[in-house]
Amino acid sequence: MARVPPRKTAIPRAADVAAILMEWFARAARDLPWRRTLDPYAIWVSEAMLQQTQVATVIPYWNRWMAELPDVRSLAHAPADKVLKLWEGLGYYRRARHLHAAARQIVEARDGSLPSDLEGWLALPGIGRYTAGAIVSIAFNHPAPILDGNVMRVLSRLLALPGDAGQRAFRDSLWSAADRLVAAASDMDPPHALPHAPLVRLSGPCSALNQSLMELGATTCTPASPHCHACPVSERCRARKTRRTADFPRPAPRPPVAHRTMAAVLWQSSGRWLVLRRAEGTVNGGLWEFPTVECNAGEDPRASLAAWLGIDAARLSPAGTVRHAITRYRIEQHLFRLADAAIDATMPPGAEWKPWKDLPSLPWTSAHRRALQLITT
Ligand code: ADE
Repeated sequence: MARVPPRKTAIPRAADVAAILMEWFARAARDLPWRRTLDPYAIWVSEAMLQQTQVATVIPYWNRWMAELPDVRSLAHAPADKVLKLWEGLGYYRRARHLHAAARQIVEARDGSLPSDLEGWLALPGIGRYTAGAIVSIAFNHPAPILDGNVMRVLSRLLALPGDAGQRAFRDSLWSAADRLVAAASDMDPPHALPHAPLVRLSGPCSALNQSLMELGATTCTPASPHCHACPVSERCRARKTRRTADFPRPAPRPPVAHRTMAAVLWQSSGRWLVLRRAEGTVNGGLWEFPTVECNAGEDPRASLAAWLGIDAARLSPAGTVRHAITRYRIEQHLFRLADAAIDATMPPGAEWKPWKDLPSLPWTSAHRRALQLITT
């Protein structure tokens, strides 16, 4: 059956709301490093990093990245290890792999010229409607809407629109509201200057409007205890009027938390350590780790590791435990040392010996970077 097209979401007096938001942004915008440029490459990198990650965490990563890989050609030609190393610690490494793949595509298929339209960006790996809209509105002042978690919260509260992020009709309505706002902004004057942030550059009103929504969600319309007294549109906010800001948006149902146990071997032989690169297409693909085996529920980690390596468990000495979380998984990594004499053990497939001095510069999974620190200290 054909899908019923979503109803256009009415934003009461969209032009007024857009004007108020832009004027607020001119007063409230934070001076962030990627706001000092209109370079679409720099803005693209910032948007990739800012997905799922806080501004304060991103700033040093973005600065390092731009110093090392200042343009699309340098990214396209960089080795995968360098790209992943610059991302190390930010998590969700698929974002870095997609940036790399997209840069190669831009160099190969477009002779290094970045798209300036929404469709051109959407054709690249890892670029969805939010990222494409953010880049073309911020870099080129195109009237493309944006909707991420922050904007979803702002607009669902403003309109008191019930639903959660997992519901298609809810998302469609909010995309439509975001579209109304940026369309209304597009033929207005942008704020003339950002008095307290004079180095921030704006390509035009669409950039100001979209960034005002991001900024409001990040700094004011926060998930818990929103600062409604500081919100420029609180008078028009339907959730605020009915004291129901906490009800919008409804949290999406989350998959249940699952516990996993791993055992890793810190195997040293003649000053070299056994390490391997995780296979592409797996979680943390392309990152390095010490050889690791997953234990079945209730299984003793040392016994599992010994069986995997084909050695007696007594030859493995406990070296610590690292706990971490990836998406819905809570993972406990048990580390065991194995010394020179055990060279008769079975080599895990794909593993290679590397001298100690080469280890710090590899891109590591976060758990195994901590394992590396454990053996250094
Ligand atoms: N979150 C997502 N994009 C952002 C941007 N450009 N500036 C600040 N926060 C953001």
